[in-house]
Amino acid sequence: MVKICCIGAGYVGGPTMAMIALKCPDIQVVVVDISKPRIAAWNSDELPIYEPGLDEVVKACRDKNLFFSTEVEKHVAEADIVFVSVNTPTKTRGLGAGKAADLTYWESAARMIADVSKSDKIVVEKSTVPVKTAEAIEKILTHNNNGIHFQILSNPEFLAEGTAIEDLAKPDRVLIGGRETPEGQKAVAALKAVYAHWVPEDRILTTNLWSAELSKLAANAFLAQRISSINAMSALCESTGANVSEVAYAIGKDSRIGPKFLNASVGFGGSCFQKDILNLVYICECNGLPDVAHYWKQVVQINDYQKTRFVKRVVSSMFNTVSGKKIAILGFAFKKDTGDTRETPAIDVCHGLLGDKALLSIYDPQVTEDQIKRDLAMNKFDWDHPQHLQPQSPTAFKQVSVVWDAYEATKDAHGICIITEWEEFKKLDYQRIYDNMQKPAFIFDGRNVLNVEALRKIGFIVYSIGKPLDPWVKDLQVSI
Ligand code: NAD
Ligand code: UGA
Repeated sequence: MVKICCIGAGYVGGPTMAMIALKCPDIQVVVVDISKPRIAAWNSDELPIYEPGLDEVVKACRDKNLFFSTEVEKHVAEADIVFVSVNTPTKTRGLGAGKAADLTYWESAARMIADVSKSDKIVVEKSTVPVKTAEAIEKILTHNNNGIHFQILSNPEFLAEGTAIEDLAKPDRVLIGGRETPEGQKAVAALKAVYAHWVPEDRILTTNLWSAELSKLAANAFLAQRISSINAMSALCESTGANVSEVAYAIGKDSRIGPKFLNASVGFGGSCFQKDILNLVYICECNGLPDVAHYWKQVVQINDYQKTRFVKRVVSSMFNTVSGKKIAILGFAFKKDTGDTRETPAIDVCHGLLGDKALLSIYDPQVTEDQIKRDLAMNKFDWDHPQHLQPQSPTAFKQVSVVWDAYEATKDAHGICIITEWEEFKKLDYQRIYDNMQKPAFIFDGRNVLNVEALRKIGFIVYSIGKPLDPWVKDLQVSI
């Protein structure tokens, strides 16, 4: 029986390995992690991450051919194929701080693999890493190899949170990069055989190592670029009276452009887009390509601009001050159908409003109070380190309360900000909400999910990203 071990039981390691176990009953899969609480949660009824469909997949194979363990070294030693799916955060200090990927966790995993291995292994890069990481990993592995042979493959993951199970069950493509030597190609074939259990052969792409590593960064950069492009257009729409949804629909009908990923928003969030683009920028700079670096950096800059612009709209619309005013924040996760808050635009929006002394009442159906308070207290990039290295106790914020109901959050509020596009926010009783708010009552829809006309009929002053401006908001235009 082929044995797979995955180091890192996170958003990628957990679901990907669960899918491999489900589709390959002839393979034993063990997911290991240094975090004891995380492994305990994977072995419990309360999985550590919220992902539609994940519970069913885990329950179908856990303790049959899928195991979660903290015995990292033991399971790595026994495995034929070792996936590495650990954190690759943005460096916070030293050379490349604020841009380069911090490979501390990757390197320590590689050293451990080298130390404990007693048989030949295929080591698979599942984490998103800078181009040429495989070369560094090879050096670490072969340095103390004791006659053992390692083959490094790059097999980046393209799943998106909230749709991870669907993405894994029916991937657009699986990408495997390997050395172009006979041994390298043998390793590629072995990994291909794993995916071939359920992925059609024409969707399993094989390339050289560097193409696979770079394709992952490129894919995220292209996706994020589409969002920044439509968000840049949303600002122009507001100034001209165009409607960003109509513009997105019109351009998306061009089959060369396509309709997906053109939803204007308060800004993209998530653990990877910003991190991976900054990493790409750094790689360009290191390769003597400052113009290319500058081009990609703009994608992140427009995203920051969009979040700031949203806060400015809120403050300027509400008589240029939110000091002492209650603002309801509906949604804190970086997108719907996940409890993940890493780099969520909610953090920047809340910081912006708190900076203007607002009183925030936050509600998200999947994010805990503890998590929200820790996020608001954390330094930039700290969130992307293993849990035991993050600040443990949430900081108390006098100006912030976290509640478990949208009606409670909006009661007596002066304004509402929709930050995550949860389905339930579309179905709320807005008449009831309006009746219980201070007047004039404002709604700032950062996701364009609400029916603007219906809300205006109720009496709300509505701002919706990239939509023709409410006369009230228009009259209070500020420089943004
Ligand atoms: P995560 O923080 O959820 O999980 C990483 C896990 O690795 C943590 O549980 C941590 O405790 C563990 N870990 C760190 N060092 C370890 C070590 N030496 N030994 C054992 N365990 C260790 O991160 P994630 O979201 O799963 O992302 C992992 C990688 O996958 C990143 O490189 C990310 O860019 C990439 N990625 C993420 C997504 C996503 O949707 N989250 C999608 C595609 C790619
Ligand atoms: C993204 C990619 O879609 C995955 O392919 C990739 O594997 C992953 O990053 C990664 O490397 O981590 P994810 O961040 O989970 O996945 O979620 P997305 O659906 O891409 O959304 C990212 C952010 O963009 C969210 O905040 C979302 O609300 C925002 N978004 C997305 C928009 O503002 N507009 C859109 O049209 C689409």
